[in-house]
Amino acid sequence: MLPIHILGTGAMACLWASYFSEQHQINFIRRTNKTSKFSFTLMPSKQVVTGNAYTAKSIPHLIQHLIVATKAFDAQTAIQSVEHLLSPNAQIVLLQNGMGSQQSIAKQFSQYAVYACSSTEGAYKIDPQTLMHAGKGINHIGSLSGEAQQQKLAQWLPSSSFQWHEDISPVLWRKLIVNCAINPLTLIYNCQNGELIKQPHMQQHMKDICQELDMLLDKMPFDFPCAFHLATQICQQTANNFSSMYQDGKHNKPTEIDFITGYIVKKCQEFSLPCPENIKLINSIKKLNLGP
Ligand code: PAF
Repeated sequence: MLPIHILGTGAMACLWASYFSEQHQINFIRRTNKTSKFSFTLMPSKQVVTGNAYTAKSIPHLIQHLIVATKAFDAQTAIQSVEHLLSPNAQIVLLQNGMGSQQSIAKQFSQYAVYACSSTEGAYKIDPQTLMHAGKGINHIGSLSGEAQQQKLAQWLPSSSFQWHEDISPVLWRKLIVNCAINPLTLIYNCQNGELIKQPHMQQHMKDICQELDMLLDKMPFDFPCAFHLATQICQQTANNFSSMYQDGKHNKPTEIDFITGYIVKKCQEFSLPCPENIKLINSIKKLNLGP
């Protein structure tokens, strides 16, 4: 039984806990803690998953296997809070959306095995103690530091739970492009993903955003179909889903816009590419004044 540590208790944190619950000991790390255990029910299987609950200050042992399942804007601070507990051969899996947070964490913690995961798993919390595993997906994982290797990861993460990529960068970029085209618009128009391609004015807005994304993609070493095509496909496949940014907005939580559209705008500026539509998107989302 290996001790697995998970930063966060949101939907992804709980889903990952369920991958281990039969074989390993789960230790959740939360900002504040009222109880020594954290349990939830996984639906639709009704499996009950239980782990120890700690704060960064109360963990009694060194951390060897760490899953960072916080939002992108919290990830670096969350790891820093347990930095003194990382064992020299620690392995860290980053589950964040967007781009930027994983790269700066990998830089700061380059002596450890750091992995990035881009997940297509669908899960959401029905209430704090109930997780709905809504759609089986794939955890695409690759290395962000020299120490991170597929064989090392397979020693603790069940091989059925991930697909290894020698180069994770195209996977992260593809998801970033899709998130840029879909997520902010679903919050602005207050709609499910599928609606964006049904309503002509929304579809036009998505096209305008995608045109700027395509100009950036032209400068990158990837061979992707155009951004609008990528986004349209995902809108069709996930027509009834509410995007993660929509859900953050509806729960009055801060969004990951700085790590999604914000990252794209920074990249466009590096290449001196104009991106007025994406800048407007950031401003519209920021005007909503979400979060604490
Ligand atoms: O962020 C999300 O919600 C998802 O990545 C996506 C693909 C937009 C589907 O809802």
